[in-house]
Amino acid sequence: VSGKQAIDLGRYDGLKDLETPCYVFSPEAVIADYKRLREALGTPLIVSLKANPNVDLYVRCAHVFTDGVELASIGELNLAVARAAVTKFISTPALDSTLISAALASRQTIIMLDNLAQVHLLLTHGKASSQKVGLRLNARALLGNAMSVAHSDHFGMCTDDALIAIKLLRKAEVAVAGVHVFAGSRSFSKYGLAICERAHGVIEQLEAALDAPLDFINLGGGFEEQWNQAEMAVYRERVGELQKRLTVFHEAGRAIFQRGGTFLAKVISVKSVNDRTFVVCDGGIAQAFLLAKTEAILKRRKDAWVVPQDSMRETFKGVLEVVGNSCSQSDVIGEIRDSIIPVPGDIVQINDCGAYHTYSPTGFLNLRAPSKYIVS
Ligand SMILES: Cc1ncc(COP(=O)(O)O)c(C=O)c1O
Repeated sequence: VSGKQAIDLGRYDGLKDLETPCYVFSPEAVIADYKRLREALGTPLIVSLKANPNVDLYVRCAHVFTDGVELASIGELNLAVARAAVTKFISTPALDSTLISAALASRQTIIMLDNLAQVHLLLTHGKASSQKVGLRLNARALLGNAMSVAHSDHFGMCTDDALIAIKLLRKAEVAVAGVHVFAGSRSFSKYGLAICERAHGVIEQLEAALDAPLDFINLGGGFEEQWNQAEMAVYRERVGELQKRLTVFHEAGRAIFQRGGTFLAKVISVKSVNDRTFVVCDGGIAQAFLLAKTEAILKRRKDAWVVPQDSMRETFKGVLEVVGNSCSQSDVIGEIRDSIIPVPGDIVQINDCGAYHTYSPTGFLNLRAPSKYIVS
């Protein structure tokens, strides 16, 4: 196998025994990427579990993920509860009574209230005043028209609603510990610096309404899978200014998990039609939805690599398209370039698949779920 690999599968025995299609996760790679980003930021780093809710991987990384985890569902709360004594930030516009009750019953939870309806809902709960809360601001509350309407989303509240929320929560003696803003995935290069700079004004406004200092602000992040070191150095300086006032958090998903996961599928057959050659595998869009790039405008396929069963193989120059086992026309998940010629039984490997591997539209065709393995 050639190519840049976070997980060098050649180091491990038993590749042939893996049940395909499958993901192989490396706690070592995930921990290395978590530490690298945290160090570059110079702030605590919250882990977005939605990016990889694999419990075995979490357990292996929990000793490093000590700054906190960000959760958006009761399923994610169940995953984190009792597995690590760590702050659990619960943040979802779909917060309901059940999730509030679960948060109240669990230790070290902070509910980041998304809107005024959630404030009212929380206050109907008996022990609300014992619950740590924060407020989630919409990114445009900080950025205003500097954020295009196309980039804006439905998460969090505007500043006016945050001020009303503070009034309601103060009256009910619920302490507001902090605020959270997330401008969206891969938004860092565009909005990171502006959010950091504009945070000062919003913090002043909210602290005046609270008549108390905030403990923290979570600036979100929106870091790319491969963030830029030079850009980060400039950003870190600005963050330093904010850190003089309060604790600053960031959170990340794809930048932590992407490199630490590899997708493997077995070759079922190789066929040519209309001058294109396809490598048909036992897994594809149904197990690795994002690889099919159905939501991308420019469908730049990921590189795929052939892991041969034996060493005697001919090579070819050109491109083979890797397709999966569904009957969807969109089931093209990668491209093999200038490689050895694959045959049935070989394994196709696609690197950098560790984030959002659970993201899937449907359970179409009842195809089997991918197996998951941890290497260490
Ligand atoms: C509130 C919040 N924080 C963090 C993330 C993680 O985003 P990414 O994986 O792009 O870092 C998400 C992703 O949807 C999110 O909704």
